[in-house]
Amino acid sequence: MIGRLNHVAIAVKDLAASTALYRDTLGARVSQPLPQPEHGVTVVFVELPNTKIELLEPMGEDSPIAKFLERNADGGIHHICYEVDDILAARDRLKAQGARVLGSGEPRIGAHGKPVLFLHPKDFCGTLVELEQA
Ligand code: CO
Repeated sequence: MIGRLNHVAIAVKDLAASTALYRDTLGARVSQPLPQPEHGVTVVFVELPNTKIELLEPMGEDSPIAKFLERNADGGIHHICYEVDDILAARDRLKAQGARVLGSGEPRIGAHGKPVLFLHPKDFCGTLVELEQA
């Protein structure tokens, strides 16, 4: 059911320093910072040949990324995103198998303008999973 790895999201405390690390030390192509107030983050996209890394810096105290960074002071992998062809069919199949879909269970429009859902990390090897309609 799941397809390509769309991105790996890494929570960071200092977006400028993390962007410089990826650009200068690792030699990757990076985007300008993109504020996404509706998701409580500022994002930098790191473009790799086969996928993307998203550096997420919290915006505001209510940001879910701020809470993550309280528990992970050095930052860390926040979630991974897999593509699916049909997000509603994927959701219904997962729910029928007992997986927990976060929030209302209805897809929201994610960082790339496409519908996304998040799955409970306890049901997926301790990893927060995002599904994005391809
Ligand atoms: Co994501």
